[in-house]
Amino acid sequence: MTVATPEGTVISPGRVNLLGEHVDYNDGVVLPAAIDRSVKIIFKKNESRLVSLKAVDLQDECVIHLSHLEKKTSQEGKPLPDWALYPAGVMWGLQRHGLDLIGFDAQFSSNIPIGAGLSSSAAIEVGFAVVCMSLCGWQLERLELAKLCQQAEREYVGVNCGLMDQFACACGVEDHVVMFDTRSLASQTLPLPPATTLVIADSSLRRSLLTSAYNDRRRDCESVVAYFNQLDPSIRSLRDLGEERLLAHEHALPPAAFRHARHVVEEISRVNQAIDLLKEKDARGFGRLMFSSHDSLRDLFEVSRPELDILVDIAAGFDGCLGSRLTGAGFGGSTVSLVLDEKSDAFIHQLRDLYQKQTGLQAVVFSTRASRGAHLNPD
Ligand code: GLA
Repeated sequence: MTVATPEGTVISPGRVNLLGEHVDYNDGVVLPAAIDRSVKIIFKKNESRLVSLKAVDLQDECVIHLSHLEKKTSQEGKPLPDWALYPAGVMWGLQRHGLDLIGFDAQFSSNIPIGAGLSSSAAIEVGFAVVCMSLCGWQLERLELAKLCQQAEREYVGVNCGLMDQFACACGVEDHVVMFDTRSLASQTLPLPPATTLVIADSSLRRSLLTSAYNDRRRDCESVVAYFNQLDPSIRSLRDLGEERLLAHEHALPPAAFRHARHVVEEISRVNQAIDLLKEKDARGFGRLMFSSHDSLRDLFEVSRPELDILVDIAAGFDGCLGSRLTGAGFGGSTVSLVLDEKSDAFIHQLRDLYQKQTGLQAVVFSTRASRGAHLNPD
């Protein structure tokens, strides 16, 4: 199947999170940006109840009936391939929300590395939601769109994720970080630190056991909230818990759950400091918080891997790199570094070379710009 004369094209970006990791399911504030790597979907309506999908990069395709989405099977009754769960989940969620869909043919390709912690799946979800919106004649607010995509990932695909990735893909703004409060759902754009470049390093280590490890971390956070909620019903999430109070109860909590909650509580307060630093255009101060965030994800939240630590150590030793940390869920994937503009080329080369020498692995290292959220092209 090829979409011969397309009706439209949607560009949907990946995201990088600068600070606020594993806080989006704990009511915290996150600081992501959409990136200039994206999923491109071309599509055309087909006057039927069938959706024909082609994943160009994977050389795979399948046809789904809009009336049987809940079965997670193709038109011929076979289980959907993993990649098709994302668009199918979004269509399932939109219909459940009472929105009418019509059949279409679509093919998509992506230059967001898959499984690298850069939200290639949220980009597919949000991209297909925009395709459906442009074909079907209804409108949804961006935030609403992001929420429906998140529900699809949680209930259809089975990853109990927060809202950050879908929010960033839907609401990204060029050259800006988008501060997103996952409790109030308020957002605000903040300029990136002046004269700096964001550099992403994909460790090439694919994330393993991501779904179960991610869901386990989430359960640990919930168990600590449940413990404190019994003592004080006003505590509804880790955001309501100060560090002092958490530390005072260390003895009563399972050690791993305590460490994980401690990361979250401290990361939430790091983001508060970071927002002030961004407003003051203090790139160095912001960078220092990125390094502390990484230490905490490694030692307390326990989601780093030695290869990611090596990338961050190399970055820390480079004059001109202001901050570096793993980005996304962890367990493999990528780091993000904040580097002085004039040093960024040298940084990219050095990171690639030293990483290869120390690990024998090839990292894909590239600079990125904060970009706009998913959109029709041209709009
Ligand atoms: C994944 C999830 C997000 C968020 C990050 C960690 O990317 O999809 O919701 O929890 O991990 O910050």
